[in-house]
Amino acid sequence: MSPMDKLNLGIVGAGGRGASFKAACDALKQVSVHAVCDINADALPGAAKLLGAREQYTDYGEMLEKSELDAVIIGTPMKFHAPQAIAALERNLHVLSEVTAGVSVEECRELVVASKRSRGIYMMAENYTYMQPNVIVRELVRRGLFGTTYYAEGKYLHELKELNEVTVWRRKWQTGINGVTYGTHSLGPILQWMPGERVVAVSGVGSGHHYRDPRGAEYENEDSCLMLCKMASGGLVKIRVDMLSNRPDASTNYQLQGTDGCYESARAWGEKDRIWLRSRCKDTGTWLNLDDLKDEFLPDFWKENMASGEASGHGGGDYFEILDFVDAIEGKRLTPIGIHEAMDMTLPGLVSQLSIQDGSRWMDVPDSRKW
Ligand SMILES: NC(=O)c1ccc[n+]([C@@H]2O[C@H](COP(=O)([O-])OP(=O)(O)OC[C@H]3O[C@@H](n4cnc5c(N)ncnc54)[C@H](O)[C@@H]3O)[C@@H](O)[C@H]2O)c1
Repeated sequence: MSPMDKLNLGIVGAGGRGASFKAACDALKQVSVHAVCDINADALPGAAKLLGAREQYTDYGEMLEKSELDAVIIGTPMKFHAPQAIAALERNLHVLSEVTAGVSVEECRELVVASKRSRGIYMMAENYTYMQPNVIVRELVRRGLFGTTYYAEGKYLHELKELNEVTVWRRKWQTGINGVTYGTHSLGPILQWMPGERVVAVSGVGSGHHYRDPRGAEYENEDSCLMLCKMASGGLVKIRVDMLSNRPDASTNYQLQGTDGCYESARAWGEKDRIWLRSRCKDTGTWLNLDDLKDEFLPDFWKENMASGEASGHGGGDYFEILDFVDAIEGKRLTPIGIHEAMDMTLPGLVSQLSIQDGSRWMDVPDSRKW
C-alpha cells in the first residue's frame, strides 16, 4: 500500500479498454492509478494524463519491476491476459483481468497454478455480470423466485468486421478461430443464475461462412457459432456468439427458465426485459417488466452505494466491479469472479473450439478446482 494507504494500481493496455476503468477508480477513495503501460508510446502520455498516473511504461515487465504496485488491471488484447496475469501473480500482485481469462486450455491451467501459488487475488472483469438487469435476475434467483433454474440462453451478436481492421488482434483472437471465442459475456451472468452449477461438457457447431475480410479471406470463425452446454446437474445452456453477420447489435441477449419463473431480456434497444414469476403473475399469459421489480430486488449493497456507482457510469456496473475487487483485496469478502469462476466462464468456449474442429463432438470441460 502507498503511504496514503491507497492501493497503487498499474493499468496495462491503458490506450484502449484500460482507460475505461477511470471513472470507477476515481469514484473509489481506496485506489490510486499509480502507473500505466501501453506498447503504443504515442498513446501513453494521453492515457497517463486521463488516468492521473504518475508513471508511464511501454514495457509491462519493466512496470512490474520498477513500479511500487499493489495490483494491476489488464486491458490488453486477449492473448496477453494470461501471461500478464501470471507475471503479476508471480510477484504477489493482485490482478483484475479483462475477458477472456486466457486463449487456450493449457495457458488457463498455468494461470490457475500461478494463482494458487500467489498471495495476490485474481479476479476476471466480466462486466456483464454487473449490468443491472442481470444483477436483479441474480437476486430473484437467490431469493428463490425462479425455483430451480435448468435452462438458459445467452447471445452475443456484435458485428465487428470494421472494428476487426482497427483493433487487428480481433481478426485473430475473436474472428480468426472457429468456435466460441468470446463467450464470457453470455455465459457469465447465466452461471450466476444457476448457483453451484458448472458446464461439464460442450458441443460447438457453426452456421458456415458468408462473409470475407477486406483481403478476400474467409473468416476462420463461422458466422454464428453455437455452444451447447451440459450442466453438472443435467441442465442445458445455449450460447450463440456472432461477430460477423450483418445485423444490429444485440450483445446482452438472455433467457432463463426455472421451475417457478422465466426471464426474457429485451431483444433490441427500446424493448423491455420481461419476466414471468409463478408467485407474482395471475396466469401464464401475464408478463412483468423486470424494471418494475428494481426497487424490491436490486441488492441492498447496490442501493446503499448507488450514489457513487451511478456517478461512474454504466448504471453503476463498473464501480461495483472495482469495488468487489478492492473489497476482496482488503479481505472484506471473496471476489465473486475469482480464478475458478473465471475458468467456469472461459473454459467452455475454449473447449467448444476443439469440439467444432472434431465434428461437434461433445467434449468434457475440465474442472479447474482439480488442477
Ligand atoms: N468487457 C468489455 O465489455 C470489453 C469491451 C471491449 C474490450 N474488451 C476487452 O479488452 C481488451 C482490449 O480491448 P480494446 O478494445 O481496448 O483493444 P484495443 O486494441 O483498442 O486496445 C488495446 C490496448 O493495449 C495496448 N497493447 C497491446 N499489446 C500490449 C502489450 N503487450 N503491453 C501493453 N499494452 C499493449 C494497445 O496499444 C492498445 O492501446 C480485449 O481483451 C477485449 O476483449 C472488453
